[in-house]
Amino acid sequence: MRIGLIGGSGLYEIEGLEITKEVFISTPYGDPSSVYKIGTISAKEDEKQIVFLPRHGIPHSIPPHRVNYRANIWGFKSLGVDRIIAVNAVGGINKDLSAGDIVLLDQIIDMTYGARESTFYDKDRVIHIDFTNPYCPEMRDLIIKASQNIGLPIKTVGTYICVNGPRLETAKEIQFFSMIGADVVGMTAMPEASLARELEICISGISVVTNYAAGTSEKKLTTTEVVETMKNSTDRIKSLIKEIIMHVPIARACQCKDALKDAEL
Ligand code: HPA
Repeated sequence: MRIGLIGGSGLYEIEGLEITKEVFISTPYGDPSSVYKIGTISAKEDEKQIVFLPRHGIPHSIPPHRVNYRANIWGFKSLGVDRIIAVNAVGGINKDLSAGDIVLLDQIIDMTYGARESTFYDKDRVIHIDFTNPYCPEMRDLIIKASQNIGLPIKTVGTYICVNGPRLETAKEIQFFSMIGADVVGMTAMPEASLARELEICISGISVVTNYAAGTSEKKLTTTEVVETMKNSTDRIKSLIKEIIMHVPIARACQCKDALKDAEL
């Protein structure tokens, strides 16, 4: 069984991951962001392999609007990955959030629509996947339990608004995003999540609040702050991921695995 892990800004490797293989995958959509590193996180769980991909490449050189999301997700599928944990850095919009908070996402508002290649089905097949709940509910439950097991406080719900970037937002845009129910803002959750669903892969989104969103604090936003806060959170993220892996069942009980059923015209 293989679990995919996508690292965002500031999460370029998982310390403690025993890499056994590095694989380059070429896909019909072009090249993924990097080689996939395959390994295990603990000897006890050696039948559960982790497949790690840094979303922005190594070194960080691919901006969010240029990430080849289709190639990345296709690559995971061809490596036999059926669950993905996607980690991303976000700006906090909701006033209850502070820098360093971990948010387990449950909803998405997509503002990138039309600006990115967002589907595998734009030619021969007409497919409309159900995306009511973009993140796998089974994985969400598992992650909440894992965080409780290790005593790690996380926010268990959060709406991610995905912007195209690469510029950051204006203060009024953030006010507007807040009004329409967004808790955090970032540039990478979409179309990553819907592409995973299109290939019947479960995906979960774990966001680290790396900064206060534009206009919600006096401070100028900097990428240094984003990467530093993410780096300072890697130990917590890593412990959470270890705990998730320990408890993830081999078989999937969710509907993600049947996403294409009754979705084709
Ligand atoms: N806005 C958009 N994307 C981000 C931010 C932000 O404030 N922080 C980290 N990624």
